[in-house]
Order: sequence, then structure tokens, then C-alpha cells
Amino acid sequence: MLELRNLSKSYASGRPVLSNLSWNFKAGEFVSIMGDSGVGKSTLLNLIAGLDTPDAAPGDSPIVVDGVPMSGLDDDAATKLRRARMGFIFQAFHVLPHLTLLQNVALPLLLNGLPTERAAEMLEAVGLGGRGGDFPHQLSGGEMQRVAIARALVHRPALVLADEPTGNLDPDTAHSILTLLRREIKATGACAIMVTHSQHAAEMTDKILQLSKTGIQETTNVNTFKQ
Ligand SMILES: Nc1ncnc2c1ncn2[C@@H]1O[C@H](COP(=O)(O)OP(=O)(O)OP(=O)(O)O)[C@@H](O)[C@H]1O
Ligand SMILES: [Mg+2]
Repeated sequence: MLELRNLSKSYASGRPVLSNLSWNFKAGEFVSIMGDSGVGKSTLLNLIAGLDTPDAAPGDSPIVVDGVPMSGLDDDAATKLRRARMGFIFQAFHVLPHLTLLQNVALPLLLNGLPTERAAEMLEAVGLGGRGGDFPHQLSGGEMQRVAIARALVHRPALVLADEPTGNLDPDTAHSILTLLRREIKATGACAIMVTHSQHAAEMTDKILQLSKTGIQETTNVNTFKQ
């Protein structure tokens, strides 16, 4: 579903952040990525999302989504791929303040020319069924995250990218949001990659990857949550 092949990234200003990462992410897999602050987790998600560009590599594209080499795409094609095939739960992808919750969740459907009925179903699925007409400022942090999840999944993307989706939530809310995220991912068969600092959050995924200066490694000493 998503292949990383010798992916490297360095910023002009300094040392390399990621060097020669390779990994295969499979469809239907819910994977977490853990690692020290500053090791490059958000950078990695941004590269996969096409929001940042990897270092030039000779030969193969370092990022391949569903068989499509990302580096072969122009801006328009990359935007189309991102819009149709990916869902984001990033801090930078804020819920839009001037749209109602229902309009926010319907946005990916509209942008993809899809019928918008599913927006209401998704709001219902995240427990905000009665609040479609509310505006984001009327929500708590946890409710806002639920809207972000609904919006990220509403168009059934093949690839879901989440950067600390429960970072600022209390443990109970975090648990219910992760349960919801897991259920929706499994229902749609998406591949989901979640960056987290929380061991509990990581244990709710199928596989835990550790990102470090030496590369990506799967960690084995955890009780993987499966249902
Ligand atoms: N636009 C940029 N220009 C220069 N350096 C950057 C840029 N973005 C990130 N970096 C650097 O790249 C490194 C990795 O940053 P990144 O945000 O990916 O870390 P992270 O693993 O997500 O950390 P955290 O767990 O704190 O969120 C850091 O040293 C950071 O300072
Ligand atoms: Mg980060």
C-alpha cells in the first residue's frame, strides 16, 4: 500500500533528519510510530503526505503509494492523490472555524465530487450526531478531535495519517477516540499510520515501529491490542 525506499530528508540548515528509511506498510494495517522528540516522526508523515519533499534520490521514487511513485507527480496530481486517497489527523489540518461540523466533515466528499450523505453518518459514528449544525468553537478539545477523525475518514481514504491524535486529551477520552479510530480503520480497510508518544495508544495498534537515528525497527515487547 505504501512503500518507503531509501527515504532521506535533510534540511538546508542542518544535519540529515531521516536517512535511508525503507519500510512496507500494508493495506488494512494500523501501525504506530514512536520515537524521541525531534527524531523526525512529523517530518516522515509530511513527506508521505506530499507536504514536504524528500532529498533527491537517484533512480526509484523513495515514496510509492499504491504503486504510484510520488516523485513522478506534479503538484496537481499530488493534490488529487492526497485528496482522494489520504485522510489526515494533523494539528495543522484544523477544523475550519467558519463551517459547521457537518460542513467540515462533508468537505472531503465535496472536494472529491462524492455524495455528501456519509458526512452525517460519520458524525453519528463519532458520537456527534446531534451537533452537525454547531460550529467548532462550541466544542471541547476531545470533541474537536472526533470531528477531525470523522473528516479524515469520511471519503474512505486508503491511507490515514495521524500525528499525535490524542496528544492533548485525558486518558478516557483518548481511549475512546483510539477505539473509534481503530474501528473505522478496520471497517474501511485503510492503512493507518499514527505517530504517538503514548505507550497506551501504541498498544492499540497492530504494529509498533520505533523511529531512531539508526532507522525504523519493529518493537516486539508489547501486548498488542487486538479485537
Ligand atoms: N522546516 C524545517 N526546517 C529545518 N529543520 C526542521 C524543519 N522541520 C523540522 N526540522 C527539524 O527536523 C527534526 C525532526 O523534526 P520533527 O518535527 O519531524 O520531529 P518529531 O519526531 O515529530 O518530534 P516531536 O516528537 O517533538 O513532535 C528536528 O530537529 C527539527 O528541528
Ligand atoms: Mg512531531
